[in-house]
Amino acid sequence: MCGIVGILGNHEVAPQLVEALKRLEYRGYDSAGIATVNDAGTLDRRRAVGKLVNLSDRLVHEPLTGRAGIGHTRWATHGPATEGNAHPHRHGPVAVVHNGIIENFRDLRADLAQAGITPQTDTDTETVALLTGHHMAQGMCPVEAARATLARLHGAFALAFLFDGDGDLMIAARKGSPLAVGHGEGEMFVGSDAIALAPFTDRITYLEDGDHAIITRAGVEIYDAQGRRANRDMVRIDVGATAIDKGGYRHFMAKEIAEQPAVLGDVLNHYVKNGRIVLPESVSFADVDRVLLVGCGTAHLAGHVAKYWFEQIAGLPCDIDIASEFRYREPPLSDRSWAIFVSQSGETADTLAALHYAQGKVAKTLGVVNVGTSAIARESDIALPTLAGIEVCVASSKAFTCQLAVLAVLALKAAADRGRIDAAALAAHLDDLRAIPGLLNQALAVADDCRALAGWLSEAQDVLYLGRGALYPVALEGALKLKELSYIHAEGYASGELKHGPIALIDRNVPVVVLAPRDTLFEKTVSNMQEVMARHGKVLLISDADGITEAGEGTRATLTMPMGGGAFQPILYAVPMQYLAYYTAVAKGTDVDQPRNLAKSVTVE
Ligand code: F6R
Repeated sequence: MCGIVGILGNHEVAPQLVEALKRLEYRGYDSAGIATVNDAGTLDRRRAVGKLVNLSDRLVHEPLTGRAGIGHTRWATHGPATEGNAHPHRHGPVAVVHNGIIENFRDLRADLAQAGITPQTDTDTETVALLTGHHMAQGMCPVEAARATLARLHGAFALAFLFDGDGDLMIAARKGSPLAVGHGEGEMFVGSDAIALAPFTDRITYLEDGDHAIITRAGVEIYDAQGRRANRDMVRIDVGATAIDKGGYRHFMAKEIAEQPAVLGDVLNHYVKNGRIVLPESVSFADVDRVLLVGCGTAHLAGHVAKYWFEQIAGLPCDIDIASEFRYREPPLSDRSWAIFVSQSGETADTLAALHYAQGKVAKTLGVVNVGTSAIARESDIALPTLAGIEVCVASSKAFTCQLAVLAVLALKAAADRGRIDAAALAAHLDDLRAIPGLLNQALAVADDCRALAGWLSEAQDVLYLGRGALYPVALEGALKLKELSYIHAEGYASGELKHGPIALIDRNVPVVVLAPRDTLFEKTVSNMQEVMARHGKVLLISDADGITEAGEGTRATLTMPMGGGAFQPILYAVPMQYLAYYTAVAKGTDVDQPRNLAKSVTVE
């Protein structure tokens, strides 16, 4: 979480810093701030609580000049969202922006106290500025001072330092958190990701763990964790692919939901060609005895859906785990198993740590990742892109369905490699999968009905979601989406589990959303739905036309989904989950694209 940016430029840097921060706001929006060194060499800063727009307003009335600067958008970890806790933090001639957590900041504070230096903020980051300023006061030059500080830091960080009196020096460092260096014409940049730098340059060097960089307008010198000069490749990014606009939609989320037929089409064109699965040659499940799927939040739920596919279609035992639990539980892992890490950002701290835990213990690690340059993509044995394109809304929609599509392809490959299905059965499954983009297009038509239901849902205190089989994790995803977007309490349950406790919650004020396509589990789910209605529960039944005809009577409302999709129907049923949450949030007037307290890239544990 938190986004950082730094620019040694040839133009007034404040507007550029704000433009870059706009692209990093998905990392947090508790406060924002910038510091610049003006042409007289004076370091100054402006900070504001809340969204970036508050900082922009402030800069209109209290402008900052200068062609060198650093900026930050905060997701609060240590200390509340106040101006005092906002970055950049400054001590004497040093200003610092930081993404990550300095775990030993209390020890560092104790050392600083002995030198008579007292912190002014609640943050861990301030100790970096205090320590560096202290080193400079003892006579070190900026580079020596920053190096001496970096040597003392424990934890995770991406840092950028700026110095009073030197408008042509910026120091950047990373450990655990990502950091990109951008190369311009006589200008240099750093940013938490390349997307932030896309308005300025397409030439990027990614720092590796433990690296620090001494940056001037003339270029960059990179040093590795041992302090040796290091060569890191420069890559060109596709700036066109970094375009961020709402395309005429009111919110990014609406745009991203509507993009699903197209992006799912792209995913399937990439992984299925002429009726054959196309995956790297090393993806063969013939000798694999178990698959482990790990992720957080929605990405974890994608793994949960895929568990049903791996077990039912491929007959391959499959465990799923939440990354934050997996990494500390020390689960024994078989060296014939594969571990698959699912992540949109590819930077989620817990998922990355889970990958590190599995390395060397399992036969292979796979990353199913949307951001191709991310740590999980780079560090997995095999990285499979989910090709959803940039997802801006903090709540995941198209990234989820693209994850499902890639996992579906993997499960079918496993089934074929293990001889669980013959060529005809594989072809039938692939036909079902290839039909998904078209069916998604039809599924988008539920938008109007979801909008009409939003008034009802927005008045509820609690909402329950029920599903069975592979629709159970989709019910969990529906509840997660509603919670995070509309702040209404919601829970997902396996339909059969309801009578073991949660049914006590049912009364006429609790909407119950039932996911029940007309499949082999339909009768069972409908029985559970009847149990709800017998207790005056108000049901929203989501099914296909046959299911609605058969069981729609007596419900409060129904949503009709397209038929088809075979085993891959969960991908379709994600759409009403997304639209119900989206329109309920719109009805409640919450911030759809940037819900409170959340950040899109969760780089702290
Ligand atoms: C929910 C949501 C989160 C993420 C989770 C993992 O809508 O977006 O639950 O799925 O934070 O993030 P990634 O996929 O980047 O690892």
